[in-house]
Amino acid sequence: MLVDPSHWSGRRVLVTGDTGFKGAWLSLWLQELGAEVTGLALPAEDHSLYTQLGLKELITHTDVDIRDQDAVDHAILSAAPQTVFHLAAQPIVRLSYDEPRETFATNVQGTVNVLDACRRVQGLKAIVAITSDKCYENREWIWPYRENDPVGGHDPYSASKGAAELVVASYQSSFFHTEEAPLLASVRAGNVIGGGDWASDRLVPDIIRALAAEETVVIRSPQAVRPWQHVLEALGGYLLIAQGLAEGDRKFASPWNFGPSSQDSSPVLHIVERLLSLWGGGNFEIKGDQTKHEAHTLKLDCSKAHSQLGWRPAFTLSDTLEWIVDWHKAYAKGDDMRAVSRRQLQQYRALMDKALTEGTEL
Ligand SMILES: NC(=O)c1ccc[n+]([C@@H]2O[C@H](COP(=O)([O-])OP(=O)(O)OC[C@H]3O[C@@H](n4cnc5c(N)ncnc54)[C@H](O)[C@@H]3O)[C@@H](O)[C@H]2O)c1
Repeated sequence: MLVDPSHWSGRRVLVTGDTGFKGAWLSLWLQELGAEVTGLALPAEDHSLYTQLGLKELITHTDVDIRDQDAVDHAILSAAPQTVFHLAAQPIVRLSYDEPRETFATNVQGTVNVLDACRRVQGLKAIVAITSDKCYENREWIWPYRENDPVGGHDPYSASKGAAELVVASYQSSFFHTEEAPLLASVRAGNVIGGGDWASDRLVPDIIRALAAEETVVIRSPQAVRPWQHVLEALGGYLLIAQGLAEGDRKFASPWNFGPSSQDSSPVLHIVERLLSLWGGGNFEIKGDQTKHEAHTLKLDCSKAHSQLGWRPAFTLSDTLEWIVDWHKAYAKGDDMRAVSRRQLQQYRALMDKALTEGTEL
């Protein structure tokens, strides 16, 4: 199975969280495929990928807080989507310690509001709910997590994503199981990185900001292991799942992990050293912070996506880090970032098709 432009051309697609990092890349990709994209999220920040891509000119966007049920109902029923990608969330672990109530309200009740509105949309075929690799009850073991491992979460963000998984499972079995209902899947990607992420308290954006400002990069947990992957790898997986759901294949209506090859689950220190070397300079220092617990080891088992979907990473971690530095160097030079991003997207689409067709294992 490949991402099929004929499936997407003219399709009405709703993306919640289009003003965020992943949502902006997904909206650009869908727009390139010919979909009619409606976005729904909090207003875009001035310094955001959404703005740098000029998405305002390419898609229809409505400012909606997903905690506001009436506003969500109105926006989703007006857009009448055939496919929904639900990405809107408060996604930062450390912020979730400062704002637990807002995090749970957005990530759990917000997901309920979006799914509930979807029950009333005529002609809706597919819903992909984006949760997280952090939805698993983390046991700090060396083995990767599989889709049938228990969900849980220590910090409020992880717990909210575990809870969002329970919401998805409940809506699946209670409302989206009948012949005429849309099919619903949840997707759990790894630590997604790429050009254009400007979030605070995230490793790669923090490093890029420090390098661009010629400041010392500060890292908290050099030995923490995460399943790093390029944003387009995860988004490609989401598109395939959405296609399968829209075609009515019930095997897709279940949870899916999308992560890197096992050797690309690397410690933070490796990411820092490699980014500094690709940037061509810079220093870092380690300042541990024990006040906010974060999981030490997190890996994903993607055997299900490999065997049942034919999905596999098209990229190594090394390629990913090179693309991030290329993107941010182009930004620093004042290049047209829509053109730069489209170029990366086109190159990635060719690599993805090749990896999926040849079944290459990195
Ligand atoms: N980036 C990662 O490494 C990663 C990894 C796994 C899962 N995820 C998940 O992917 C999704 C997108 O993450 P991202 O990295 O693009 O985050 P982001 O912070 O860049 O974007 C978040 C988006 O959600 C919107 N949003 C936040 N609160 C909202 C609210 N109350 N109402 C409406 N919209 C709201 C924002 O406006 C923005 O559009 C999230 O669900 C996140 O949990 C991200």
